[in-house]
Amino acid sequence: MSLPPLRPLITEERIAARIREMGATITADYQDEAPLYLVGILKGSFIFLADLARAIDRSVRLEFIGISSYGKGKSTSGEVKLTKDLDASIEGCDVLVVEDIVDSGVTLTYLLKVLQQRKPRSLRIAALLDKPERRQRPVHVDYVGFAIPDEFVVGYGLDYAEDHRNLKAVCVVE
Ligand code: IMP
Ligand code: MG
Repeated sequence: MSLPPLRPLITEERIAARIREMGATITADYQDEAPLYLVGILKGSFIFLADLARAIDRSVRLEFIGISSYGKGKSTSGEVKLTKDLDASIEGCDVLVVEDIVDSGVTLTYLLKVLQQRKPRSLRIAALLDKPERRQRPVHVDYVGFAIPDEFVVGYGLDYAEDHRNLKAVCVVE
């Protein structure tokens, strides 16, 4: 198996520091008693979700949702489908969708529509990475870790054809 070379873009330390800041902001923004659901989008968000959840200083509930919009390559197929639904009702609850990266915006546009129909009390998005140049659909990301240039990245949960999710840093696939 030959894998393409990888160039570190965001170190483990910078990621950790930024997530501490995001956790503090989110903690300050959700001071109410209402349950706060973190909805992780599988699979890419799993490491970010684990670290962000622990950076938030209040109780959170965890849910996962499965969405697929990409094939095995580097660009969107334009097609989105729900591959795993939530287990719990989010009606009347605060919901924070946790995503690894926002690229074209196709995935989140679809997901927000689906989740809004479930009547949450609030619905926001936290994404570790944002590639604003690539946007095809307008999506407002409430909490962004890092805006990055238009390059394909892996690590810290993100994959290239399922490889490299376990890298500690975010790296560019050359
Ligand atoms: P969107 O629907 O185009 O915004 O795509 C979002 C999804 O595409 C993300 O959740 C990732 O799974 C995937 N994706 C987009 N850009 C990258 C990248 O640079 N590396 C790895 N996955 C990516
Ligand atoms: Mg994803």
